[in-house]
Amino acid sequence: MFQHIPPYAGDPILSLNEDFQKDPRPHKINLSIGIYFDDAGRIPVLESVRRAQDAVIAKGGPKPYLPIEGAANFRAAVAELLFGARHEVIATRRVATIQSVGSSAGLRVGADFLARHFPKSAVWVSDPSWENHRSMFEGAGLAVHAYPYYDAASGGLKFDAMLATLSGLPPRSVVLLHACCHNPTGVDLTRAQWERLIVLLRERELLPYLDLAYQGFAEGIEQDAYAVRALAAAGLSFLVANSFSKSMSVYGERCGALSVVCPDAAQAENVLGQLKFAVRRNYSSPPIHGGQIVATVLTDPALRALWERELSAMRERILAMRAQVHKVLTAKIAGRNFDYFLTQRGMFSYTGLSPTQVDRLREQYAVYLVRSGRMCVAGLNTHNVEATAVAMAAVLGA
Ligand code: LMR
Repeated sequence: MFQHIPPYAGDPILSLNEDFQKDPRPHKINLSIGIYFDDAGRIPVLESVRRAQDAVIAKGGPKPYLPIEGAANFRAAVAELLFGARHEVIATRRVATIQSVGSSAGLRVGADFLARHFPKSAVWVSDPSWENHRSMFEGAGLAVHAYPYYDAASGGLKFDAMLATLSGLPPRSVVLLHACCHNPTGVDLTRAQWERLIVLLRERELLPYLDLAYQGFAEGIEQDAYAVRALAAAGLSFLVANSFSKSMSVYGERCGALSVVCPDAAQAENVLGQLKFAVRRNYSSPPIHGGQIVATVLTDPALRALWERELSAMRERILAMRAQVHKVLTAKIAGRNFDYFLTQRGMFSYTGLSPTQVDRLREQYAVYLVRSGRMCVAGLNTHNVEATAVAMAAVLGA
């Protein structure tokens, strides 16, 4: 019956993480998957999350199906986190938010929604983008193309080329944008660049789709919502998928959301209905537990303040690791510029290492990076940063 089924080639990120788990070498270093590890190399359990979980469990109660769109308290808390309390789009009920199974399911539900209601629209993703974006949108039946983004020569952004490509797109083309902490490059737009881009998006009647998976990892919770709020302020209609995997260290709880900002409340109600349709025919409704932990952290003032401090500490540790790896590499490899470790933001840095160099790092030194050359800086710590830099220097031929 299943003889014709081909083997799965594996996912470039998740399969690598599985290979890392199987690697018997005790000195192995995991800089592959986008997970924040603490200085001891462990995935932290945030105190705010632990207390919220205790409160959720203490409440007990039955476990009915959630509504298709998720828990009302979670959805309201997410909208406030994205837009700020009492924001006009919330007050006028023109944002449709669903709780999703991680932001991945949010992205996919949004893709299904677009495939059904914008069937002629192609999706444009940055070159490069998160490995799964293309796959997800193509899986929903949409055509996917890439716009220029990363400039390998400067380690920065090809902003003019990006604008030139986007300005030639037909109206209603979907433009996928990383709201902050671009995955995989760590290269973000400046605020001035966002302003210019937003003018173009509006003039060309393009449909922005924001992916906000790292809120709080660049500058702070409010600051990292800048793009979301700037698009809303400009009066654009757009989609935004957001995640709590990294910001609350609740990866396996699969907590995320999809919000669609619409021109008015009547359209938002219909959009919400169509998102529900997409969810129902897919996974029916989201799970309770993780979403209630997130909602508790977001809405309990003491836990919220604690979470913000814990998130700041994660962000600051990443910054310290960026400075450290920059310092060690600059000392070890003369004549090569590693400033990108300081300027790129969030968990990831694009190192410029070739796939062959990445393979050597893994095979000879047990240092795991994604083959694109993406390094998860949040996997570095005071115990492995020196060894990582030594290995990098070796494969770079220093
Ligand atoms: C990553 O990019 O490594 C993370 O977002 C994890 C994933 O699902 O790919």
